[in-house]
Amino acid sequence: MANCEFINNKGNFKLKNPENNSYMYFPIANEAGVMSSITPTLNGDCKMGQNTFLLAPVSSEDLHNNRSSRNFWIYIDGMGAWSATGVSAAQQAEIFSGDKEETDVEAGIMWHKITRKSKKFGVKSEITSFVPATDEKIELMKVTITNISNETKKITSTVAIPLYCRSADNIRDHRHVTSLLNRVETTEYGVIVNPTLTFDERGHKKNTVVYGVVAATENGGKPISFCPIVEEFIGEGGSFEMPKSVLLNEEFKIKPNEKLEGYEAIGAIRFEDVVIEPNSSKSYIVAIGFGDSKCDFDSVVVNDLNETGFYKLFEDTKTYWDKKINISYETKDKRFDNWMYWVNFQPMLRRIYGCSFLPHHDYGKGGRGWRDLWQDCLALIAMDPRDVRGMLLDNFGGIRFDGTNATIIGTKQGEFIADRNNITRVWMDHGAWPFLTTNLYIEQTGDIEFLLEKQSYFKDLQVERGTEKDTLWDLSQGNKILTENSKEYNGTILEHLLVQHLTAFYDVGEHNNLKLHGADWNDGLDMAEEKGESVAFSTLYGGNLESIAELLKVLRDEKKIKNVELAEELLILLTGDDEIYNRVDEKQKVLKDYCYKCRHNIKGKVIKLNCDELIADIQGKAKWLKEHIQKNEWITNREGYSWYNGYYDNNARRVEGDGESGTRMILTGQVFSIMSNTATEEQVESIIKAADKYLYDKSIGGYRLNTNFNEIKTDFGRMFGFAYGHKENGAVFSHMAIMYANALYQRGFVHEGFKVVDTLYSHCNNFDVSRIYPGVPEYINEKGRGMYNYLTGSASWLILTVLTEMFGVKGEMGNLAFDPKILLKQFDDENKASIEMNFAERMLKIEYINEGIKEYGDYSVNQIYMNGEEYKFDGKPVICRNVITSLDENIKHTIKVVLK
Ligand code: G1P
Repeated sequence: MANCEFINNKGNFKLKNPENNSYMYFPIANEAGVMSSITPTLNGDCKMGQNTFLLAPVSSEDLHNNRSSRNFWIYIDGMGAWSATGVSAAQQAEIFSGDKEETDVEAGIMWHKITRKSKKFGVKSEITSFVPATDEKIELMKVTITNISNETKKITSTVAIPLYCRSADNIRDHRHVTSLLNRVETTEYGVIVNPTLTFDERGHKKNTVVYGVVAATENGGKPISFCPIVEEFIGEGGSFEMPKSVLLNEEFKIKPNEKLEGYEAIGAIRFEDVVIEPNSSKSYIVAIGFGDSKCDFDSVVVNDLNETGFYKLFEDTKTYWDKKINISYETKDKRFDNWMYWVNFQPMLRRIYGCSFLPHHDYGKGGRGWRDLWQDCLALIAMDPRDVRGMLLDNFGGIRFDGTNATIIGTKQGEFIADRNNITRVWMDHGAWPFLTTNLYIEQTGDIEFLLEKQSYFKDLQVERGTEKDTLWDLSQGNKILTENSKEYNGTILEHLLVQHLTAFYDVGEHNNLKLHGADWNDGLDMAEEKGESVAFSTLYGGNLESIAELLKVLRDEKKIKNVELAEELLILLTGDDEIYNRVDEKQKVLKDYCYKCRHNIKGKVIKLNCDELIADIQGKAKWLKEHIQKNEWITNREGYSWYNGYYDNNARRVEGDGESGTRMILTGQVFSIMSNTATEEQVESIIKAADKYLYDKSIGGYRLNTNFNEIKTDFGRMFGFAYGHKENGAVFSHMAIMYANALYQRGFVHEGFKVVDTLYSHCNNFDVSRIYPGVPEYINEKGRGMYNYLTGSASWLILTVLTEMFGVKGEMGNLAFDPKILLKQFDDENKASIEMNFAERMLKIEYINEGIKEYGDYSVNQIYMNGEEYKFDGKPVICRNVITSLDENIKHTIKVVLK
């Protein structure tokens, strides 16, 4: 990073003049539900959910537009007012001049410190912000003002934090009327807002959340007065950037324990004047937050509003998150290792913020989607696998008996909500993800019996894969599928997976590929509901079927399971042969028949199916799909490049190949044909060439999602309405790019896989272009700017790729296997590359030593040493699980893997 430098090996970084970059924000949050975003000028917001915004909600565009930022003012006797956050009209006017104040931000996981020096005023401010990792619902900030001049200064300090205190809906829906609900009260230490009612989409309800700001001096000293009403604080004609009461140093008239009603509120808190000698400082501690009553703020004052309390919380918070991030890497590129520290943290952020609560993510109202549920588990399996089994099991309860799934996901684990809005949208990729996650879980743990656990099926109005409604169903019947005897039906996890894959197999369009329905992974492909097909995901389903058969073999051979129990209805999907598979109408008939039989309920009859028969049937389907796609979808364009066509549009036309205005290529079809082994080795080579020719653009971080179609394809999806090079239309979309890397690594194309990760990482780290804090963003736009930072599913995939592919440390039916795919240039000066991680609930440091200084492909694992003692292995470098589980749980163990 030219401009943004890491300062330790735990991801802490420093950036000069951060406010000279737009759209930057940083997350600070906790697991008690506080979600803040903070910018270099302390803009951003703070909330606990859609209806509980303490600071007014901000979208990315508000970051330069919104004036209601957290502020702290000092009035210097004889000089005037100065904003410690840089947000005064005068300071902002100087940002492009030689008089710009010197600023830098230093930050680490969940904490943010901004320093600002004014030569003109002879003062410096240092503001540390964080949300404590406790069950307190507060954000804390400590403001230190230092006199950097040679003269004594008399200052008046004022905290000024505008308090919005209501639902995001009210930002332009009764904004004024809802201010009339405010009941404001001053206490010894601050301003409390307790709105009487809430007016939002839930109707008019009695409000139960108390909002507030409390502040004290570093020794716990009280403020002297308050000005809690916005219009009095800013004065007639004033604004938050030039508040009259501060600029003219007017006295604040409101004392503690006063009550006011019905105006926009602000935590404007005044302290007694102090004199600061040269090189001396004065600090203030401020807490903003949420409570059940005003008393909650009293305990915040006692516990946190003093220097000792603040520092203890600060240190504890840093330790808390550091402990949670239990994967780390050491390669030659220390920046990469540090950058990955942030990537490791990102899935945790997504679990807290969902996909709705950072400035770019101004959609949705919280919660996560189906894909996120499974994707976030990927990272958990690698980092904190303890609760994963239960989580996976619960998530399977979201699957419908027709293979689709609930799309409204509740806040509690395993809670799926019936769709009352009649949204019948079916994303055709949804059925493929649970298997990938479950497979990883089984490989990492060896818990193959998980497949035989039982779970219910989700039931609501939607039937026949989103095409029909079950008019017999109503909510009183509950959200689970019942048998003819009105009993809840529970089937095995294996059965759930089969339901998803077999229904998908028969759900085909004109070209005998899986129908696209409402979209696939690419949410922007949403206008080809009738005739669209996703060849891309057909290959993934095919690959999954093959892998399901492999797991069944393990059940059969190692657990001696001869028969598996399945709901009788599934037999409809388990008969068939190539003759039927070749015929679209026959396939659709089979699916219709099945869906009809499980439309309202199912019989409840369970049959026993021989494992061998089941394996043969699944393999037959997998083989058919693979050959069908190999035969029909491999395309070559005019320029002689070849790759897989991934889609058909709503006019049933093939999408990729030569277009009227240029080549049409999409990365998605390549990723999954490679990952699923549909593409042969030579085909992978051709795909790489085509992707390098048509999709690779180093200046924006690597491989674009697609070429420019130069057409608003209304028979395919809304993404073609987006400007080219943005989001789903041709940006470097991290998630797909990383899955491309993963697929390449899996197939042994290591140099090529590395190139994908390396270009993306190098771009993100090139701060002057990407303009994002460390981490992987959802995508890189046409200008090279990183967009939608932090809350992206790509982080989970990147962790997985680096861990199991690049470092090649992976579970094989619970045993620990080593298959490093580290390039020579990634080994450090001592020819080492190491990773610290959790496996079988043991902390391990795995150190690869490239003794022969060889390139990938030339080395192989020669010896393994566990805590200094040689571990003999036979052929494949694998350590048995029981050897790992016999290690002490409380200490870190070193495994040296010598490569020769
Ligand atoms: C986002 C969504 C993901 C979707 C993708 C492409 O990706 O979260 O579900 O598949 O866009 O439309 P993310 O931001 O997670 O990388």
